[in-house]
Amino acid sequence: MSKERSHGIIIDKVSRDLMIIRYDDTTTKYFEALWEIPEGVTYNAYLLVDDDATILFDSWKKGLENDFLNALSSVIDIRDLDYVVIHHMESDHSGSIKALYEKNPDITFIGHPMTNKLLRSLYGISPRFRAVKDGEILSTRNYQLMFIHVPWLHWPETMVTYIPQIKTLLTCDVFGAYTIPKSVFIEDLSDEYVFSMRKYFANIIGFYRDNVIKNLDKVLTITKGDIEIIAPAHGAVIKGDLVRKAIDLYREFALKTPVNRKIVVAYSSMYGFVDGIMNHVTQVLSDWGFNVSSYRFTDKERAGIGDLIGDANNALGIVLGISTYDTEPFPLMDYVINLLIKKLRGGKPILLITDYGWGDVVLKHVKARLEKAGFTVIDAISVNGVPTKDDLNKIDIALQSFKQAMTQ
Ligand SMILES: [Fe+2]
Ligand SMILES: [Fe+2]
Repeated sequence: MSKERSHGIIIDKVSRDLMIIRYDDTTTKYFEALWEIPEGVTYNAYLLVDDDATILFDSWKKGLENDFLNALSSVIDIRDLDYVVIHHMESDHSGSIKALYEKNPDITFIGHPMTNKLLRSLYGISPRFRAVKDGEILSTRNYQLMFIHVPWLHWPETMVTYIPQIKTLLTCDVFGAYTIPKSVFIEDLSDEYVFSMRKYFANIIGFYRDNVIKNLDKVLTITKGDIEIIAPAHGAVIKGDLVRKAIDLYREFALKTPVNRKIVVAYSSMYGFVDGIMNHVTQVLSDWGFNVSSYRFTDKERAGIGDLIGDANNALGIVLGISTYDTEPFPLMDYVINLLIKKLRGGKPILLITDYGWGDVVLKHVKARLEKAGFTVIDAISVNGVPTKDDLNKIDIALQSFKQAMTQ
């Protein structure tokens, strides 16, 4: 099989009989209709061609069926496809399943027992289906495919496949990243690439983070850690020494381990009042040697919320600056707070500063929400319009407490 690259499609070898069929999506602006992805995203399907069986793992996003069938047909005759392994039924991976079934009704689809019902509800089809138990093995002449259930990474029916003969773990969403890597294999887990991995993790799997460590440990026990290639369904294939690094990173993501003395400062400022306060906050934190990542919602700038949530995932602490709007938090900050609660699920120190014109109505409400979600609100200060000297003193004292909380 020769390497092929055309119109954002890559077909290339991962190992002798395993190939990647990758689509580089530069047109989706909002992943899951929610997350801004100016960096783009890839959908990676994999194909294993053994002497006695041809097996496809996942496909591409719904809407790309024709492109997918064309790409697959350039490699095999779809009538020769024996199995399609469905790691996860979300439509960024399962989008071509119906088209494959219509081309070849003899395909046996393989998945978690829950997958069969989803085939009917999401695609209205009832194909030949083999529900596999946790740890079940499908043997072909040269390979054994072990299916390992990894519930909630990202849906309850999610599973991964381990192929010991090539020490390869096909992981679907797990170890995926946004961004469109130049090549199939990543050469280094650079800061930029880790940012993309973390963003994908926090946006997509963050809500289910409690299941990550459990499932990682399970996979490592079953495979005895004998993994040389991780083949995810988004982003680059990871191999060699980088495999261990990627696994460690995933633990770091799941545990929200702080890195690089990073503090996320996120705020809205309609007329510059909060902006002025947060510039002061940023200056103080930077002078203390923290690395501040700023996310602003102003009349000139609108931060990427997916980036913000990804960055906050491994921050030491978070400072939120919230303007008051119609007696409530500024809508975009309200949305950010909701997502922080949902995706991070607490566990970070937060310094809260609100600014109001005619009424101090937001602070108490936001503070209570964050505390209920498991965040530690180190201090909460409300400022009426332009901060007075007294306000700035209060903020400086609060910053000292915030610093202490982060360096304990
Ligand atoms: Fe997913
Ligand atoms: Fe996905």
